[in-house]
Amino acid sequence: MSKINAVITGVGAFTPEYRLTNDELSRMVDTNDEWIMTRVGIKERRILKENEGTAASDMGAKAVEDLVRKTGLDLQEVDLVVCTTVTGDMVLPATAAIICDKVGIHKALAFDINGACSGFLYGLDLVSQYIRSGSKKKVILVSTEKMSSIVDYTDRTTCVLFGDAATAVLVEPTEEHIGLMDSNLHTDGFGREWLKIPAGGSAMPASHETVDGHKHFVYQEGKQVFKYAVTYMADATVDVMKRNNLTSDDVAWLVPHQANLRIISATQERMGIPKEKVMINIQNYGNTTSATIPLCLYEWESQLKKGDNLILAAFGAGFTWGALYVKWGYDAK
Ligand code: UT7
Repeated sequence: MSKINAVITGVGAFTPEYRLTNDELSRMVDTNDEWIMTRVGIKERRILKENEGTAASDMGAKAVEDLVRKTGLDLQEVDLVVCTTVTGDMVLPATAAIICDKVGIHKALAFDINGACSGFLYGLDLVSQYIRSGSKKKVILVSTEKMSSIVDYTDRTTCVLFGDAATAVLVEPTEEHIGLMDSNLHTDGFGREWLKIPAGGSAMPASHETVDGHKHFVYQEGKQVFKYAVTYMADATVDVMKRNNLTSDDVAWLVPHQANLRIISATQERMGIPKEKVMINIQNYGNTTSATIPLCLYEWESQLKKGDNLILAAFGAGFTWGALYVKWGYDAK
């Protein structure tokens, strides 16, 4: 019997209508388009407004509905739903459970994982193990982030960076030589102080002081995170290429996490691939945490061909980081 592998067979997404531009941000805090474009590369980001929903699960459910529209998936056949998010609706229950209820999935195994900006890579690796073991066959991996709910719009060092978005990918078994070929994923908690939300968990439960001190928002020491992101993301990418004997010519696309254009360029240069092979949409969405990579797959789907070699790479809070080697599973429809 041939070996079973896991392959992405469809991609859905939801991005809110509202566009928060650099001009609007420059009226809220002391910043400007020139600084944001040169240092990060973002023009605008999407923000969820109440007419489209209030929670990460609302966006996640819309992404699942888009996936169903595109693939004809029968939700009653879905046996696993994993949600990657750092902006879950509540501490409990899991956002995956809420999404399932909203879209009408009532018997599948469903749970959340938190890999921060590397969440999609962690999630794809995890669901692939379920599929390879033979225990799950129709899997939805949802990545949904309402970053606007944890961003302090009085802090210019973070509020220009993040946006809201959700994606849903379908992952299924295959006996063909396609799908997730290799995973090179890492975690090192030494970086935990430089990118975090200090309060709201058991270490610092919510109190008047934590609210007054803006401790429920994202806190980042950008320079420290940048220093590690720029080397670790590129190292993981080059390693995964080496151990799969992939040259720069063999790689069809780099699909990088969209946190900073300079981090993406550093990875591209280390791989020795031209800019044209890099998926970049940071200018339109900013950093949507675990949704950035699948949102790229969604936007480039029509250009992808079965058998294309993709390298997916990310770095995020924790620190979490790594790279996946994926052989794309289908031609554009
Ligand atoms: O996705 C999860 C992982 N996260 C990342 O990968 C993010 C990694 N870090 C970064 O991308 C960059 O560090 C940032 C984009 C966050 C910041 O860029 P930077 O080039 O590292 O800037 P900086 O923090 O060193 O700040 C330089 C200057 C400072 O002013 P002084 O002290 O030199 O006078 C900041 O106060 O820029 C100032 N600054 C701003 N100026 C205008 C910081 N934010 C802004 C702003 N507008 N929005």
